[in-house]
Amino acid sequence: MEKQIEILRAEAIEVIGAAGDRPALDSARVRYLGKSGAVTALSEGMRHVAKEERPKFGKLLNDLRQAVTSALEEREIRMLGEADAADVASLDLTLPGTPPPPGTLHPLTQLMDRAVRCFRRMGFAIADGPDIETEWHCFDALNTPPDHPARNEKDTFYLPDGRLLRSHTSTVQIRVMEETPPPVRIIAPGAAYRRDEVDATHLAQFTQMEGLYVAENVSLADLKGTLEFFFRELFGPETEIQFRPHFFPFTEPSYEIDIRTGALGDRWMELAGCGMVDPAVFEAVCKRRGDRVYDPERVTGFAFGFGLDRLAMNLAKISDIRMLVENDLRFLRQF
Ligand code: DAH
Repeated sequence: MEKQIEILRAEAIEVIGAAGDRPALDSARVRYLGKSGAVTALSEGMRHVAKEERPKFGKLLNDLRQAVTSALEEREIRMLGEADAADVASLDLTLPGTPPPPGTLHPLTQLMDRAVRCFRRMGFAIADGPDIETEWHCFDALNTPPDHPARNEKDTFYLPDGRLLRSHTSTVQIRVMEETPPPVRIIAPGAAYRRDEVDATHLAQFTQMEGLYVAENVSLADLKGTLEFFFRELFGPETEIQFRPHFFPFTEPSYEIDIRTGALGDRWMELAGCGMVDPAVFEAVCKRRGDRVYDPERVTGFAFGFGLDRLAMNLAKISDIRMLVENDLRFLRQF
């Protein structure tokens, strides 16, 4: 029987080693370890072995089973490795990959970038302020009295603690003057919020760009020159620009700016508000700062503000403002 075991072990190891694929390996497993396999049959032969010899043969049979099992395992692992190697052999890892499409900038971002670049060339720095503001920064400091309609709860989002979502970016004028002595020359692009019903021309959140220039001897001519230059840079040198007298609490005198240009369909479009900073605004800032660097007897300034959404829509011929925020790729891919 010892001899038989030896022969079987040699045979099994050879057959397993020669198994070229999975079916061959599986049938080798059945042939030796299966219910009616050769190793099993030998174990049954134990019945005829003398009692005192049984432990010895029991051990030999166990070793045999062990040896066949590990031969099967080894062959299987090698087979997996060979399959992997075959897969990779046909791969050229030096080929370029599939790049993800780069995408494009949102039409609003494109317009904002152009506007920012133009003002930076004129020496304006970019300023920022919080979207959640105090009533003081949004209204009081901007000379807007408590009974002004813009402060109505129907028009402005108030938080339970009395703060609000800024209804315009003019708040940044105040933030900048609080922190920085004159001269200041800033633009502040950012979000503004109003309690408007959402429809094709209104969103509750929109985008504005504010500007402020304060120094000694800043004049209305500076305001006109700066904004005329800006709008002609943006829309072309033939653009017509008109300053129409208006009222804003924080500027005096105040104007609305209308422009007319082919790019916007050759009709007058109201685009921006602007004016010379009202002395009351400087006084509010002086009081808050506790100094007189913004004394309206010493400095003057101009301010302006305009919405970017409607401008982007007119330039890109977008008919519904909601498209700007819906993130529909079919829409965005056009830009
Ligand atoms: N804050 C105004 C608005 O949201 C726009 C504006 C008008 C800003 C005149 C200004 C300005 O700085 O001088 O309608």
